Amino acid sequence: MAEKKSNRGAWNSKLGFILAASGSAIGLGNIVFFSSNAYQYGGGAFYLPYFLALFVLGIPVMILEFGLGSTTGRAFPEALYRTVGKKGEFIGWWALSSALFITMYYVAILGWALGMMFGAFGSLFEAGATAPFPPFSQPTTGPSAITYFFNLITTWWPLLCVLIIWGLNMLILWKGTATIERAVRIFVPLMWLFMIGLIVRGLTLEGGLDGVLYLFTPDIEGIKEPTVWRGAFSQMFFSLSLGLGTMTAYASYLPKDADQVNNSLLVSFMNCGFEYIAGVAIFSLLFVFALNPVGGTLSLSFFAIPQGISAFPWGVRLFGFLFFFLLVIAGLTSSISLIEGPASALIDKLRISRAKALSIIAIPGVIGSVCYTLPQVIDPGLNGNGTLGLSLLDVMDHWAFNYSLLTTGFVTCILVGWVFGAAKMRAIVNEHAKIKLGVWFDILIKFIAPILLGGVIIWNLISEFTGDNIYGGGVDLGAYSWIPYVIPFVWLIGATAGAAYMTFGRSYASPTPAPEAPSTHA
Ligand code: ALA
Repeated sequence: MAEKKSNRGAWNSKLGFILAASGSAIGLGNIVFFSSNAYQYGGGAFYLPYFLALFVLGIPVMILEFGLGSTTGRAFPEALYRTVGKKGEFIGWWALSSALFITMYYVAILGWALGMMFGAFGSLFEAGATAPFPPFSQPTTGPSAITYFFNLITTWWPLLCVLIIWGLNMLILWKGTATIERAVRIFVPLMWLFMIGLIVRGLTLEGGLDGVLYLFTPDIEGIKEPTVWRGAFSQMFFSLSLGLGTMTAYASYLPKDADQVNNSLLVSFMNCGFEYIAGVAIFSLLFVFALNPVGGTLSLSFFAIPQGISAFPWGVRLFGFLFFFLLVIAGLTSSISLIEGPASALIDKLRISRAKALSIIAIPGVIGSVCYTLPQVIDPGLNGNGTLGLSLLDVMDHWAFNYSLLTTGFVTCILVGWVFGAAKMRAIVNEHAKIKLGVWFDILIKFIAPILLGGVIIWNLISEFTGDNIYGGGVDLGAYSWIPYVIPFVWLIGATAGAAYMTFGRSYASPTPAPEAPSTHA
């Protein structure tokens, strides 16, 4: 990896890139969201569509996103601009603007994980914990992660935690690839080590294997449900960090001759391997302690798992700490990539310093994350979302998670597949690949991926607007009943206005020609 393309930065080694890209992929999605989605959609019924999504959508789209980055040497919007023009640039900025909304709540969740991590050595696992705050002062008979979590988020402590997480992100991103590489060389091996520790603990508990069987036994009835497929596709995109502009940004620091087929296979398999290991560890705990994670996505990691850990015969505080430390480092290696995507795009377009680009992202980013930590209690019964911040997060997650990644993937496949040409992209990637892509790649990018993604998006929208209420509209939010109606517009208008401003507000200083397919190939 001697060839360096420009002064934008470059990875020092292939290992550095693989660690960074797999660190981006492996995150809260693998630990928090995968297990709760798999649980929600019926364990064995989930992993078959998920496995299929890996080969039909995940790996081909990752090859595309890596290919765009390394052939152009530019972040997502400019890479698309160079290949398909202004319409490509627009979707690039739209993806990044939309991803910023996700980054804001992603960091807020990391802030809560940090709070729980401190709690492991505080009162999180203490017997007879009771909530000191009136709305949640239900006495508990034993240690209660639920009580602790709601105590935590009804204070301003998470605000401090969120500031710490943003600060850590800035620190790691300060010198670009150099500091990112240094961080992932420590964090990525550590998170594998901790996860292996958790899986050994889970499987050596009596009955732990039953959870594994639940996760791996295919349920043919379950996979007939369309919601299972929707859940699997969205989860696959998020988990592989696709449709977020991050993979193209990271690949733009690679030399042009990098083998993107090999890189995509390595990163995808590492990500899904980690995900299954996490699933096994978590499901074994659920089964041993007969835990039933009711409620939203977060309840599994923030209530059920700590509750399982508190019943360990030994090492409660240690494993509790390790679990939340694992969440924090896995999340950090992903959040830095979510921020690097727009940072590198701003540097490309505005020719500004890295410090300036990071500040442009951090200022709205911190404000957004703080909104998700607002501690006002709006549901004292804890039937839905307890606090204002949690309710904002829930509604934003519904729209941004379900629609923006899949829409970006859909439009990228159409533009690169039909306007630039899937065969041309395949020829470019194949030039340096040991495993050559066949014509099946063109078929996947031009037909199968857009049909599947488009179908899922349309099906989602239909079910969204034919129900009795808009998402969240059926819940009593008191004075905050505007949330389900306003947040979707904040997201949609924010992302679209941001994209329009960046695309049409000014032009690239030195546009360069589109990447060419090697003459020896079709
Ligand atoms: N791919 C990252 C995750 O799974 C965003 O958390």
